[in-house]
Amino acid sequence: MASIKISPSILSADFSRLGSEIQNLEKADADLIHIDVMDGHFVPNITIGPEVIKKLRKYTSLPFDVHLMISPVDNFIKNFADAGADIITIHPEATSDLVSSIKKIKSYNKKAGVSLNPETPVNKVMPVLNLIDLVLVMSVNPGFGGQKFIKDVLKKVTILRKEIDSKKLKTQIEIDGGINFENAKMAKEAGVDILVSGTTIFEGNGGNLKKNIQLLKTG
Ligand code: DX5
Ligand code: ZN
Repeated sequence: MASIKISPSILSADFSRLGSEIQNLEKADADLIHIDVMDGHFVPNITIGPEVIKKLRKYTSLPFDVHLMISPVDNFIKNFADAGADIITIHPEATSDLVSSIKKIKSYNKKAGVSLNPETPVNKVMPVLNLIDLVLVMSVNPGFGGQKFIKDVLKKVTILRKEIDSKKLKTQIEIDGGINFENAKMAKEAGVDILVSGTTIFEGNGGNLKKNIQLLKTG
């Protein structure tokens, strides 16, 4: 079984020095960098946009795992592709035509992800599973870090794992929200490939990034 990958969410980082925070994550053996983009419309919070991502690109060669919590999303896909995103993940509720938005992301040679909120049924993503590279299963309602893990979403992970394996797809399953050292084990058992974590990585064990990433990976 391939080893689990860790994508720390910089939503929990020090926003006044994101460049060095990203460099510290790379030194701490992060596999990807999870960048939460929020527009204050799709979710009740605002974070960063493509211009900041463009400036952060030079600080690491790690993949930028960009989670777009913005709507309408189509008008901004090119901006994030040009800014250096490697994976562009969108929410189905943020587009009027999910297939066309996915194709748009792929047209810029980027990996495409679809994110399922806790309330969004897993069959929303089934018809496009063969078109995308990643399913981002939200284990919190999007908008903020530090929320409590919603265990019920693991049922979706199990269903997705079965579907992906039975169809021999390469689609990866990523889980995002409230991940800690305890529930990370359950998420791995359910079949996730990538763990997103903000609070646990930046605040656990006195903020020891390397130790926290290692514990999430091997715990
Ligand atoms: C929430 C974001 C998550 C969040 C994860 O809307 O999508 O990526 O930042 O942070 P923690 O691990 O603190 O829940
Ligand atoms: Zn996220």
